[in-house]
Amino acid sequence: MFKPQLLRQAARAARGHTPRAALRTRQPIVSYSRPFSSSPCRLDEPPRDDIDAATTAGEPGESGDHEGQYARTDNTIQVEYPEEKDLPPSQPVQGRGGFHFKRTLASFSLEGKSAIVTGGARGLGLVMAQALVTSGADVALVDMNKEEAEKSAKGLINTFKDENPGSDKVPKVTAHYCDVSSPTSVDECLADILKEHGKIDNLVTSAGFTENFDAISYPHDRMQKLWSVNVDGTYLWAIAVAKHLMERKAPGSVVMIGSMSGAIVNVPQPQAPYNAAKAAVRHLASSLAVEWAHAGIRVNCISPGYMLTALTKKILDDNPDLQKQWTSLIPVGKMGRPEDLMGAVTFLSSDASLYVTGADLRVDGAYTCT
Ligand SMILES: NC(=O)c1ccc[n+]([C@@H]2O[C@H](COP(=O)([O-])OP(=O)(O)OC[C@H]3O[C@@H](n4cnc5c(N)ncnc54)[C@H](O)[C@@H]3O)[C@@H](O)[C@H]2O)c1
Repeated sequence: MFKPQLLRQAARAARGHTPRAALRTRQPIVSYSRPFSSSPCRLDEPPRDDIDAATTAGEPGESGDHEGQYARTDNTIQVEYPEEKDLPPSQPVQGRGGFHFKRTLASFSLEGKSAIVTGGARGLGLVMAQALVTSGADVALVDMNKEEAEKSAKGLINTFKDENPGSDKVPKVTAHYCDVSSPTSVDECLADILKEHGKIDNLVTSAGFTENFDAISYPHDRMQKLWSVNVDGTYLWAIAVAKHLMERKAPGSVVMIGSMSGAIVNVPQPQAPYNAAKAAVRHLASSLAVEWAHAGIRVNCISPGYMLTALTKKILDDNPDLQKQWTSLIPVGKMGRPEDLMGAVTFLSSDASLYVTGADLRVDGAYTCT
């Protein structure tokens, strides 16, 4: 459940931090002594200026309250992943499909392919599923929330029909229950999908979630759940689909949804286990790319930055200050929209990227460049 008090804490935290300098007694600069025994005696040195104080010559906080202000986590921020009933649904995006007569590479087409998208009932998974459908694939939406996945499957088919009136071929979009963290559930779900689709060529693993607790107070059971969905869920689906492809002696593509959090540490919200989980996803993609290259199975990772899904929108609507802080750290100055992943997932799923495997494609407005 959303905890309003937690969100208020987040807002408070985004408004400002307790200045570190306020927590300590300021030392007159002349009485400063460097805490390394190897330092030369500084008694005869002239007083240092502000710039000196901004180096390791200064004590923490000595150069002012702003010191490290945008590079800290704040332990007061706690955001729990909402309960199922509080999760907002997502709709297929409009105006992204339909016949067109603009020239583009045929290798981007997914005609004749069948794809699985985990976490496909909503959010980024749903919009990426829509990209695959628009590009010609049949899609199986896999989610713990089967009811929502069924609604989304219908939504994708209806959007396709609206945008392609008179099309004689309507894609097959199905919905399936799975808890991606359970090996039994994954195997049962794949068998169920194969009954309907006959074969699978592509996998996109988007089931995953984040929560915010400082590392020391992170409830252990929640941390295990986070890792089991984000990491085990990605791994279990990748091996199930790779086994199927190898049995068919067919090439295929796996796209794992990581996060920029696998490469940087987000601030100010503390989320060490999520960051580590997404780093694991990224390196899993590289490792499996090497292991399965001989079989023609490509494995890549997409690492999104801050994307404005229905869920992040709900959090930020309550926390405009947090939004300001996030966008201030993004070089392009904007959060991404879910549909900004449509091209990336189509590229990595299609023959347009035949020689791309083991790569991490960051879709983050250059966040990780700074
Ligand atoms: N939204 C962002 O800003 C952002 C940024 C970077 C990475 N990501 C990653 O993208 C992925 C999708 O995120 P989102 O924002 O669309 O989230 P979301 O919460 O909107 O959607 C996630 C979907 O996964 C499903 N799911 C959760 N646990 C599951 C389980 N055990 N088994 C099967 N399905 C399960 C949920 O029911 C939901 O439909 C996640 O891996 C997330 O970490 C999101």
